[in-house]
Amino acid sequence: MDRLKELAGRQAAEYIADGMVVGLGSGSTAAHAIRAIGSRVASGLRIRAISTSEASSRLAQELSIPLITLAEAQRLDVTIDGADEVDPKLDLIKGLGGALVREKVVAWSTARQVIIVDPSKLVPRLGTQAPLPVEVVPFAWPVVQRALLQRAAEAPLRLDAAGQPYCTDNGNFILHCRFTDGIADPAALDAWVNNLPGVVGNGLFVGLTHTVVVGQADGTCRVIERPAAVG
Ligand code: A5P
Repeated sequence: MDRLKELAGRQAAEYIADGMVVGLGSGSTAAHAIRAIGSRVASGLRIRAISTSEASSRLAQELSIPLITLAEAQRLDVTIDGADEVDPKLDLIKGLGGALVREKVVAWSTARQVIIVDPSKLVPRLGTQAPLPVEVVPFAWPVVQRALLQRAAEAPLRLDAAGQPYCTDNGNFILHCRFTDGIADPAALDAWVNNLPGVVGNGLFVGLTHTVVVGQADGTCRVIERPAAVG
């Protein structure tokens, strides 16, 4: 699977051109794209980048990719990020790496969102494989958890390796929602979850993706574009 992730990451890095402001995603697949961008930068590509996590920032710095803040960017041209699930409309679940809030801010701000995955991430319906992460301010998690259980079969607090609540780069906690038959209406669930007091964001990315690049076992990439009418 890592070879397929690398294939997709390398192909997606080709969407980047001189002078662009580039969003850097998070997770193992996005890391392959960052490395591919890093080698293009080493060969003379001039870009500025905005990172979606502390881990991706560290990797970008190691590779001498110039980083800027959202306040310094007038626009983002292309963002390359991974996903946990991709449905046929190119809606996503993201955030098993814990970076969902910054990833969503960057996805929302970018002209072209390119998602890179291996084939195991393609699903007929969201919520059938991966849990939906919901980021909450620590004070609110018990209340938000009870509310989420109106719609989800379970919503445990994500724990770290030491058994403590996992803490995001933003200092918040995450609840992982599981659904019995997946998510019937991602847009409606996204709006409902975001409206709960104490919720900072959730991992549903609805209508934000333009292109999906799938690394395939035969060494090629399948590129899926969002139909113009949907977007
Ligand atoms: C990070 O918070 C996530 O959104 C990742 O993009 C997603 O979890 C996919 O990660 P992998 O590329 O490591 O599978």
